[in-house]
Amino acid sequence: MSEHIKPYNAEVSKEEQIREMFDRIAPRYDFLNRLLSFRQDVRWRKHLIRQALLHKPVRLLDVATGTGDLALAFAKAGVPEVVGLDISLQMLSKARLRAAELPNAPLFIQGSALEMPFEDGYFDTLSVAFGVRNFQDIRRGLKEMHRVLKPGGRMYILEFSAPQKSLFKTFFSFYNSKIVPQAGRWLGGDAQAYSYLDRSVMAFPAPGNFIDMLEDEGWREVEYQSFSGGLVHLFQARK
Ligand SMILES: C[S@@+](CC[C@H](N)C(=O)[O-])C[C@H]1O[C@@H](n2cnc3c(N)ncnc32)[C@H](O)[C@@H]1O
Repeated sequence: MSEHIKPYNAEVSKEEQIREMFDRIAPRYDFLNRLLSFRQDVRWRKHLIRQALLHKPVRLLDVATGTGDLALAFAKAGVPEVVGLDISLQMLSKARLRAAELPNAPLFIQGSALEMPFEDGYFDTLSVAFGVRNFQDIRRGLKEMHRVLKPGGRMYILEFSAPQKSLFKTFFSFYNSKIVPQAGRWLGGDAQAYSYLDRSVMAFPAPGNFIDMLEDEGWREVEYQSFSGGLVHLFQARK
């Protein structure tokens, strides 16, 4: 009997929990994002978009695309082939709705960053905004992104990490651990999801450690810029 029982797969189960959580918060995600970041999220993504467009992307994959902010911006900027990938169907439905009127709408596909449905070296540019810290295995995600990028291709990652400067750190930690989950409860009906988001920021490696991780996984020309007192970083790397 026991040989017929499929072993419990903890990895899949964690990804499943994250997917369900984003499915739940999808209807209010954009509204709460703008509100809780005082619209700074728009400004942070603009930095990434500007950098990526300098190198004239042709085939671009936006990993953990969510409701498609980056994918849509790249399509509107004239990038010929844009694909957005995400595990959450509810987030993707919002992205698809937003893309409905666009002449060269991105293709939005459901799938995991840890096992992507693309051939080796297909894309010349990859972007990820606020997605990497949700991967249950960050190194596996970095390997997989390396695989689907062509040699010489460029990757741009925007991510939060806990600020290091003490005054800002205290304010941020209070805001993120107390205000954000309360706002999540009142306005989004899901305090649990928003307190997970706080814990995931705290757990994400400091920029120096993340750079070491990128280099370990074979990325080169790795560099980063900090925004908003070190709350957000834009990492760039090449294959
Ligand atoms: C905080 S949202 C960011 C969405 C979007 N990039 C943005 O800038 O608003 C994180 C997204 O990552 C997705 N995600 C989490 N783990 C993933 C994985 N393993 N593969 C693909 N997407 C994933 C979630 O479903 C969610 O839509």
